[in-house]
Amino acid sequence: MLRLDRWLVTLGVGSRSEMQKLIRKGGVQVDGLPVRDPGQQVNENTAVLTVNGQRLDGRLTRHVMLHKPAGLLTAARDKKQPTVMDLLPDAYAAIGCMPVGRLDKDTTGLLLLTTDGELNHRLLAPGRHVDKTYLAEVDGPLEASHIAAFAAGLHLSDFDAQPAKLEILGPTTGRVTVHEGKFHQVKRMFSAVGREVVKLHRENFGSLTLDSELPEGKWRELTEEELKALYQDAQMEAVR
Ligand code: URA
Repeated sequence: MLRLDRWLVTLGVGSRSEMQKLIRKGGVQVDGLPVRDPGQQVNENTAVLTVNGQRLDGRLTRHVMLHKPAGLLTAARDKKQPTVMDLLPDAYAAIGCMPVGRLDKDTTGLLLLTTDGELNHRLLAPGRHVDKTYLAEVDGPLEASHIAAFAAGLHLSDFDAQPAKLEILGPTTGRVTVHEGKFHQVKRMFSAVGREVVKLHRENFGSLTLDSELPEGKWRELTEEELKALYQDAQMEAVR
């Protein structure tokens, strides 16, 4: 339960004083009836919210799969450059739906966003070993020695990358599964074996797989099964 005016502010509809004014003049309906008391307690999980005659999605919890295109920063906001949040309705940012980890600006593919800060934190925790799988296109032939080098773990300038799995799919195409998520990790691992990544695309994040029906730049909310599996990845009991 929460105050009606606070709910509207949290959803990014407007400021506290604007919402109080709007509510007092009858612009907000709850379950089909005008409520004129800004302090009215409402159940944000069940109440049907209508603002200025428009039905509003009042959920404060959202979990999103985005097919990230190249050219956008993975950040909640940036002063100069467009971010992945520009692809979602404003309400998502207002309620704190945030990317889980980062993909480089030129990387495409699966990006998870959630309002659940604990889920976000746990999925990224170093000890958690949530696998991430990437398709990489590189600038020279891939060889069996690269598979062995990835499997042994690579020594990078500032850290030792844990053993990773490399499958060779084509002369210059590989699928890499890593358990960590360090800055430019996959690019730096290929660099360490003498190959530069020219294209990188994430297919999986933990138990979550990028929906093949989801075009680049599009997003959808997670299904209940996907959510349940992710919460299991994070070793959290209940889906929130
Ligand atoms: N590794 C990288 O180098 N870049 C990414 O975007 C993700 C993993």
